Amino acid sequence: MSEKKAQLSIDGIDEPIDLPVYEGSTGPDVVDVSSLVGHGVFTYDPGFMSTAACDSDITFIDGGKGILLYRGYPIEQLAEKSNFLEVCYLLLHGELPSATENQEFENRIRYHTMVDEHIHRFFRGFPSSAHPMAMLCAVVGGLSAFYHDTLDIDNPEQRIGAAHRIIAKLPTLAAMCYKHGVGQPFMYPQNDMDFSANFLHMMFGTPCEPAKVSPILAKAMDTIFLLHADHEQNASTSTVRLAGSTGANPYGCIASGIAALWGPAHGGANESVLKMLGEIGDESRIDEFILRAKNKDDPFRLMGFGHRVYKNFDPRAKVMREICDEVLEELGAHDDPLFRMARKLEKIALEDEYFIERKLYPNVDFYSGITLKAIGIPTNMFTVIFATGRTPGWIAHWNEMLSHPYRIGRPRQLYKGHTQRDYPA
Ligand code: SDX
Repeated sequence: MSEKKAQLSIDGIDEPIDLPVYEGSTGPDVVDVSSLVGHGVFTYDPGFMSTAACDSDITFIDGGKGILLYRGYPIEQLAEKSNFLEVCYLLLHGELPSATENQEFENRIRYHTMVDEHIHRFFRGFPSSAHPMAMLCAVVGGLSAFYHDTLDIDNPEQRIGAAHRIIAKLPTLAAMCYKHGVGQPFMYPQNDMDFSANFLHMMFGTPCEPAKVSPILAKAMDTIFLLHADHEQNASTSTVRLAGSTGANPYGCIASGIAALWGPAHGGANESVLKMLGEIGDESRIDEFILRAKNKDDPFRLMGFGHRVYKNFDPRAKVMREICDEVLEELGAHDDPLFRMARKLEKIALEDEYFIERKLYPNVDFYSGITLKAIGIPTNMFTVIFATGRTPGWIAHWNEMLSHPYRIGRPRQLYKGHTQRDYPA
C-alpha cells in the first residue's frame, strides 16, 4: 500500500487524525478510515456513495468515461471476441484460459449442468403463477442440501467446485422456473450443445421435437449473459460478499444475491422497462412520461436510465442496442414498435436538460428487455436471465474474498432513537 496520507481534524478531538491513503492500479484513491472507531467516531455514507467496502482485482468501471473492464479487458472487446464461458473462467481465475484450460473448463461446466432429480420436486410446491425469481431464489438456496462436497469454504478446491456447479446449474434451474410456469415438462441439458444454445433448448424445446436452436439467437443469448457477468460492488454482489463474510455456504450466498438483484432499482429494471414501455403505449405519450420522470412528486422513474456509477453511456447498453438490432433483424421484427419507441424515448431523454444535467444515460437494462422479449422470453423471466449471467461475477467475488484474510462485514450506524429510559413503574 502507498505512503500517502490524509489528515482529519474533528471538533472536540484535540489532535488531527492521520489516515493512510491507498492507491489502486487505476481509479480513485481510498482513505482507510478503519482506525476512526478508536477515536470514538464513525464515517457516515448511506448508499455507500463514497465507500470502498473491499479491494478487488476483478472488474473496474470508470463511470465518467463509460469504461467497463473484466480483469482489464474492455467489455466491448470481450463481447466481440470472447464468449460467456471463457469470461466465466476469466472472472474466476484472472486470466484468459489456454485452449486446454478452456476445453477442461467447458467440460467441467458441461458435466455439471444436470440437477439432482429430487430438485424437480421443489417446483411441485410452487403455484404455476409463482414469479420465476421467487422459485430461483428458493431452489438455488436449496442446492446446499445436496452438494455437501463443496461446502467447505476454507478449501480452495471445494470453492472452485461450488463455482463450477453454480455456473453450470443456473441455466438449468432458470429454464425449470420457466417450464413450471407454462406447465411444460422440464428439458434435460444436452451435452452436445454449447452453454447458451443449451439454455434456449431447455427453455423452448419439448420432448416432442428434436432440439433446434437458432445459432444467431444462441450467440445473442451468450453475449447477453456475458454483458451481465460482473459489475464491481453493485448491490447484489455486495450482498453476496456480506453473506459470504459470515462463512455462509456458497449456494446460500448466491441465493442472497438473487434476492437483492430482484429489486426494480437493480436487476429488476429490465422487467420494469418493458412494463414502462407498455404503460407509455404510444410514441405520442413519451413527452408525458418524460415530464412525470422529472416530477419529484411523482414516483415514476424512467426505467433503464441512470446509474450510480455511470455518468456517461453504460458501455453494455451500446452493445445491447446492437444485439437488439441484430435479433430483431434475424426475426424480421426490425420495425418492432417497442424498439422504435425505445429509440425515440432514448433520443428525447438524451436531449433533455434534466437528464443531461444529471448525466442520466441508458443503462444495460434499457435494451436487454426488448431483446429478450424478441427472443421469446417472457417479461417475468428477464431478471432470471440477469441472475444467470451475473452468477460468475457473484461467485468470483465470493471466492476472491475468501481467498484472502477477511472479517465479517458489520456496518455501524448514526443512532437517532431514544436514549436510555426506564420502563414505566
Ligand atoms: C443495474 O450498481 C450496478 O452496477 C447495477 C447494475 C449492475 O450491472 O449490477 O449496473 C445493474 O442495476 C442498472 C440500473 C437499473 N435501474 C434502473 O434503470 C432504475 C431506474 N434508475 C434509477 O432508479 C437510478 O438511476 C439508479 C437506482 C440506477 C441510481 O440511483 P442513484 O445513484 O441513487 O441516483 P439518484 O437516485 O440519487 O439520482 C440522482 C438524480 C435524482 O434527481 P435529483 O434529486 O438530483 O433532482 O437523478 C434522478 C434522481 O431523481 N434520477 C432519475 C432517474 N435516475 C435518477 N430521474 C428519472 N428517471 C431515472 N431513471
